[in-house]
Amino acid sequence: MLLEVRNLTKRFGGLTAVSDMSFALDEGDIVGIFGPNGSGKTTLLNLISGVYEPTAGQLVWQGQELVGRKPHRIAEAGIVKTFQNPQLFGELSVHDNIAIAGHLRLKRQAGWRRIATLFPLRGKASADLEPRIDHILRLCRLEAFRDAPAASLSYGGEKMLGVAMALMCEPRLLLLDEPGSGLGHDEIRNLDEVLRDLRAHGTTLCVIDHRVGFLGKLADRAIVIHHGAKIAEGRPDDVLRDHAVIEAYLGRSHA
Ligand SMILES: Nc1ncnc2c1ncn2[C@@H]1O[C@H](COP(=O)(O)OP(=O)(O)OP(=O)(O)O)[C@@H](O)[C@H]1O
Ligand SMILES: [Mg+2]
Repeated sequence: MLLEVRNLTKRFGGLTAVSDMSFALDEGDIVGIFGPNGSGKTTLLNLISGVYEPTAGQLVWQGQELVGRKPHRIAEAGIVKTFQNPQLFGELSVHDNIAIAGHLRLKRQAGWRRIATLFPLRGKASADLEPRIDHILRLCRLEAFRDAPAASLSYGGEKMLGVAMALMCEPRLLLLDEPGSGLGHDEIRNLDEVLRDLRAHGTTLCVIDHRVGFLGKLADRAIVIHHGAKIAEGRPDDVLRDHAVIEAYLGRSHA
């Protein structure tokens, strides 16, 4: 077991965004997180990645408690979250944006002092990163855009660059919050292929998406949350046919 989520709860004032949630992630899984707007999906990923500290509960990562660790410590431990709209340096190339994201990896390998040698980006230290950057560019189907400014990418390309930047941190568990939102049909197919490739390279994935057609097919396991609580878990085909799930999405009359 890679990660065990135990009785996780997050309250914001009087609102319980995540309520007594428990589940486990196994190595090599693609887990899909489903649920209507405001059900607590993003909050759940923010708790796992350390952006928020839980009100109660535990996060056990390979036997170690994560609660109380800072997000960068959690990233160093191997859990990395991509943002729905990644912060890019628009005037810099796709390559350089990925290189900047490599600082975390360098930090882990050689300590903070080494980061000073990362700049300028084309200096010697960055040469160590080049094989990995090339690998990630290929994996994310971004080779053709290597030297293009990030600002010239399509929306789907920008989101893929966000994934590429997260990969520089060498995640063992990658958390993706709506990677498919706003993408066209071809971009979704591309995303689907990239995520399957990542899993084949040994990365465990936890993905939020509203598109049942996309994530329902991609995920090995689905977890459905409603009002912050888990209401169903299992094979996507079974779970997405579940009455409680249909009711949560569409209201009682459709169930
Ligand atoms: N920082 C915060 N402070 C206060 N309330 C918050 C905060 N973050 C989230 N919430 C509330 O917690 C609940 C769950 O929000 P969350 O963003 O996790 O839902 P979601 O399932 O990701 O929704 P969506 O599908 O719209 O992205 C919502 O009621 C939201 O308003
Ligand atoms: Mg959300």
